[in-house]
Amino acid sequence: MSTESRIRCPKLSKRIMSARDAASLIPSGVNVGMSGFTGAGYPKAVPQALAEHIRDHRARGENFRISVWTGASTAPELDGALAEVDGIEMRLPYQSDPTCRQKINEGKMEYMDIHLSHVAQHAWSGFFGKLDIAVIEVVGITEDGRLIPSSSIGNNKTWIDQADKVILEVNHGQSAGLEGMHDVYYGTALPPRRKPIPITKPDERFGEKYLMCPPEKVIAVVETNSPDRNSRFSDPDENSRRIAGHLLDFFSSEVEKKRLPANLLPLQSGVGNIANAVMAGLNEGPFNNLTAYTEVLQDGMLEMLKSGKLAKASATAFSLSPEANQELADNIDFYRDRIVLRTQEISNHPEVIRRLGIIAMNGMIEADIYGNVNSTHVMGTRIMNGIGGSGDFARNGFLSVFMTPSTAKGGSISTIVPMVSHVDHTEHDVQIVVTEQGLADLRGLPPRQRALNIIEKCAHPDFRPRLRDYFERACNSGRGMHTPHQLEEALSWHHRYEETGQM
Ligand code: COA
Repeated sequence: MSTESRIRCPKLSKRIMSARDAASLIPSGVNVGMSGFTGAGYPKAVPQALAEHIRDHRARGENFRISVWTGASTAPELDGALAEVDGIEMRLPYQSDPTCRQKINEGKMEYMDIHLSHVAQHAWSGFFGKLDIAVIEVVGITEDGRLIPSSSIGNNKTWIDQADKVILEVNHGQSAGLEGMHDVYYGTALPPRRKPIPITKPDERFGEKYLMCPPEKVIAVVETNSPDRNSRFSDPDENSRRIAGHLLDFFSSEVEKKRLPANLLPLQSGVGNIANAVMAGLNEGPFNNLTAYTEVLQDGMLEMLKSGKLAKASATAFSLSPEANQELADNIDFYRDRIVLRTQEISNHPEVIRRLGIIAMNGMIEADIYGNVNSTHVMGTRIMNGIGGSGDFARNGFLSVFMTPSTAKGGSISTIVPMVSHVDHTEHDVQIVVTEQGLADLRGLPPRQRALNIIEKCAHPDFRPRLRDYFERACNSGRGMHTPHQLEEALSWHHRYEETGQM
């Protein structure tokens, strides 16, 4: 599709207007479903114009707020701009924007942090209320009004289906060659009408290449020309390299024991620098012909596709640095043969994750000595980002790995604590904990042995003696011996940090 002919549907080309005019069609108090997932494929012009509109209302002393539903995190042009003007009443299901985070933690914005595979079905069931308007970025519109999805799909199918009205942003800055990379499954249903999701290999296609939208729903089409705004990943530091090294050794030993095939099982890799560093490690490691069934495709996986280490990848979104984005655009035909982008209820579907036997690898804030994991809250009360897809993959994967450096904030915080200050993944969903210190394989271990493994293998030497001491005293306290705790001091490490800045 050439740049000039991105809007090929005559009916919809009549609805082209400015972002300002399109934003004025969004009234206060509505629920708006926006595209966007991990900084990819989010609308770029309408949210900023809406933020201006909200600022004008505020200047006149009028309140103006909307609720924003997305696929996952977006970027400063959406979350940042709307949060800045206090324009968001309620946000779901995942964010990672600093201004949003601040407003949520100040109690000025409501936030619902939801398993990403649940969002569509909760919306179909009406748990969030009625969706009024969808604002969706697309790459283009075909003659018959089908929509070519952008660099993420996320919940776009659901938002378009559920919304009364749709605003489209056609982004000329996204590669036209994305056409054909997507697989949009229209066979999902609520129980009892559900059918098996027919995926037996990560790259299997069984849906449509396009999003369907009745043209009469479309109230505005806005043309944009700007790239996704993802920042560069930091080069893997010593800690990330050591974490990746422990994981690679573990995978090699699992292959030797014939618990994993030589090309491992399909990989899921979470967001962030450590996840990206693990991919860099795998790219230099001994495994070949790997596959991925994941949520986000970061730079590391793109490099693995390029090197041939990774044969195929399925995701719902890209999350690429500017350089990797250019690499994708320059070699789009190569990548289209190897990548499938799906809706997020399929990329994160528990049934598919269990069937394929995914190796789930996610970052965390902290783990406790028994292997409960906190992925979302700093010191138990302040949200960082959200659970994202980590629960979908950890609960249903064949292997569930959580990783973090053993300390945070210059060594003042131990990420291995007596008791986590918030639980996202219970001990039952956590099989492997890995820090730069080492890897604890918790499979087949009862609680007290899990604790010994986590303390000895994962904790930083500066904190290890105190964790040992806590555990020994808990075991000798005369209380329950299944999961021994000193309840009066279980959260004292967090309390001490809040009081003194040092755990
Ligand atoms: N206490 C306080 N702060 C902590 C902390 C702890 N125990 N552990 C980490 N942090 C802080 C770091 O200091 C850093 O802060 P900064 O940005 O001010 O420097 C920040 O959290 C990020 O930590 P970092 O070590 O850089 O890790 P990361 O980029 O790998 O992110 C998570 C870690 C947990 C925040 C991230 O993985 C996440 O949001 N996970 C939940 C969602 C998820 O798993 N999605 C995957 C499915 S695709």
